[in-house]
Amino acid sequence: MVFFNKNPRNWKIKNGQPLTEMDKRILKFQNKGCLVPTRELIKTPEQIEGIRKAGVLNTAVLDLVAEKIHAGMTTLEIDQLVHEFTVKNGGIPAPLNYEGFPKSCCTSINEVVCHGIPSDEEELEEGDIVNVDCTTILDGYYADASRMFIIGKTTPEREKLVRVAKECMEVGAEACTPYSFVGDQAAAITKHAHKNGFSVVRDLCGHGVGNEFHEDPEMEHYGRKGTGMLLVPGMVFTIEPMINAGGWEVFVDSEDDWTVVTEDYSDSAQWEHTYLMTEDGVEVLSY
Ligand code: MF3
Ligand code: CO
Ligand code: CO
Repeated sequence: MVFFNKNPRNWKIKNGQPLTEMDKRILKFQNKGCLVPTRELIKTPEQIEGIRKAGVLNTAVLDLVAEKIHAGMTTLEIDQLVHEFTVKNGGIPAPLNYEGFPKSCCTSINEVVCHGIPSDEEELEEGDIVNVDCTTILDGYYADASRMFIIGKTTPEREKLVRVAKECMEVGAEACTPYSFVGDQAAAITKHAHKNGFSVVRDLCGHGVGNEFHEDPEMEHYGRKGTGMLLVPGMVFTIEPMINAGGWEVFVDSEDDWTVVTEDYSDSAQWEHTYLMTEDGVEVLSY
């Protein structure tokens, strides 16, 4: 037998250390049965500075992509740009060799939801919508962000999908007030997507980030208020909703075991920022 929704009690007094005001506040939530972060998920000021610097470099990588991306470019050329610039500036592209991923960023076009693998056989075409997702390691710290790019002129439907996907990330971020729950931002994202006639991918989520590529909590984008982990100042995480024009269902391409595609081949869009929870809401560390 296993415990349903096991909630380890992290916040007992350790070595007689006095509890801070924040400890006491978290303890109250824990005693009500809420899922609360472990101490390791609350970053120290030194760690936050490190993640902030990784974030600045990661943002610069995406700025470079934004400057260079064009119709006729292959996704492998995007990957080469990302790799060269990151390394030249003292960073490491986190995707490269991560769980066997073969390239330095993910490039996901149209019906590809995420984790598309850059290739010299894939050329960007006028009207495509493409997500470029970059994660940079700098001095051991990680920052993760992605943007959508519209190649030339596209259809009004695709333009709307790209815009609403960005708004979904932003309404999620606004719902992230200190001592809110992961489910609060998920509910805000879900509401905004549905209001616009789109669906929210349920099989993949955002994540804690900073000391590693993927940490707790699981930042779900589809869900109900009051569910999931409590979000407290000092936590660093991504919000990265994947929004589909059609149904929410997706599958993983069996040929490469990475590329995630919409089940109905409808278009999909995603934006991702790395956020720091502060005493008065979230601050963007990478975009
Ligand atoms: N950057 C993706 C994320 O937002 C993860 C990509 S994993 C990789 O979490 F191996 F495909 F790079
Ligand atoms: Co990412
Ligand atoms: Co991410």
